[in-house]
Amino acid sequence: MDRIAVIGGAELRGEIPISGAKNSAIKLMAASLLTDEPLRLTNMPRLADTRFLGKLLNRLGTTVEEHDGPDGPETVLQTKEIVSAIAPHELVREMRASFNVLGPLLARSRQAKVSLPGGDPIGARPLDFHLNAFAELGATIDINGGYVFAQAPRGLKGGHIVFPSISVGATEHILLAAVLARGETLIENAACEPEIVDLADCLNAMGARVEGAGTSTIKINGVPRLHGAAHAVVPDRIEAGTYAVAVAMAGGDVTLTGVRPEHMTAFLERLQAAGVQVDVSQNTIRVRRRPDVRLKAVDVETQPFPGFATDLQAQFMALMTLADGESVIRETIFENRFMHAGELARMGADISVQGGEARVRGVDGLTGAPVAASDVRASVCLVIAGLAARGQTVVEGVHHLDRGFERLEQKLSACGADIRRLTGDEP
Ligand code: UD1
Repeated sequence: MDRIAVIGGAELRGEIPISGAKNSAIKLMAASLLTDEPLRLTNMPRLADTRFLGKLLNRLGTTVEEHDGPDGPETVLQTKEIVSAIAPHELVREMRASFNVLGPLLARSRQAKVSLPGGDPIGARPLDFHLNAFAELGATIDINGGYVFAQAPRGLKGGHIVFPSISVGATEHILLAAVLARGETLIENAACEPEIVDLADCLNAMGARVEGAGTSTIKINGVPRLHGAAHAVVPDRIEAGTYAVAVAMAGGDVTLTGVRPEHMTAFLERLQAAGVQVDVSQNTIRVRRRPDVRLKAVDVETQPFPGFATDLQAQFMALMTLADGESVIRETIFENRFMHAGELARMGADISVQGGEARVRGVDGLTGAPVAASDVRASVCLVIAGLAARGQTVVEGVHHLDRGFERLEQKLSACGADIRRLTGDEP
């Protein structure tokens, strides 16, 4: 298993290009199941998660071609016909969001058999909102032997869906089916994340009629068929926020390019409140901190967009370990998302966790240690903590990191970080 070794102490200087958003790319790829024409996605991140989904789509009948196009990395997907409407366990368990092929399969083939993704270290993550919403669109749902069987022999019909609480995945999943349903679908209490808007934009470019994405009420007028399109994946606000924290922790002066600062307002406000200098332009964010200036402790509460993203909580906790004073971090989206706290403590952090609240008392410095990652965001928080720690940190469980961060070592070492990947048994 690969590990990442970081020797802390170097300031970061230079530019970091931000990739397309992982969380958007994998939903956009699933949209290719809705048409027999090619879907060309540009600004595509090259990640383990996009590879996993490519493998699954391939099994369902999609051809997936990756190119280095004139606009950077692109993927062209085409599903001339659905050759199988079965998503098997060995492919779905690799990545939870693979479950989102159920909606498009159901919409186009009128049936689907998709494995339940199973448990997840960051909480129970049920799928009840998804399944109840498909029932509202006229599907019959049976769960048996770890699989969901969904059928709508006469096709899906429009419906009125009111989500009990905000779910990014369920909002996207219903969009991915309702676009081909008969009649109008209204989604209330929809998630407003930029990735939802990105998906709706792509579906509209394919001929769908989606209105209101980015607000809590989305209206979809179903159409009989969709066509091919070209679409650029929205920049990854989580990757951008992660590197911003890396600079804030290590010190230095880095410009993040190819970003949408307006998608990161709540996060950037907290970063500035912590004493980090942030200058934004239309597509760049410049982050500066002098290492001799102590960070200030600020409190954070995760919220659905436009609030502070749960996917940046671990990174911000790492930052707060070096702040002056006590910071209270509240996680309101997932019930078990503080596993990184124990690993940060092994590097000298002073953190106590009670339920959904962590109290981080800033220390003068962290020390390098062997640490283990538990999920994609937790693993990157340990890497960036290592950048600011004395001595060497070795992060295990790097396969988590590869799910969501493209060329992490290259992007950081180009700015002066001492970071390298240890493969296999390399000491
Ligand atoms: C997505 C993101 C993830 C991010 C999260 C919240 C992807 C691939 N993943 O995850 O990185 O952290 O949004 O911004 O895009 N819930 C239910 N029943 C359901 C569905 C969800 O109770 O049927 C609950 C979940 O347990 C959780 C909350 O709703 O407590 C929010 O989850 P959701 O927004 O659905 O997260 P994901 O789409 O899984």
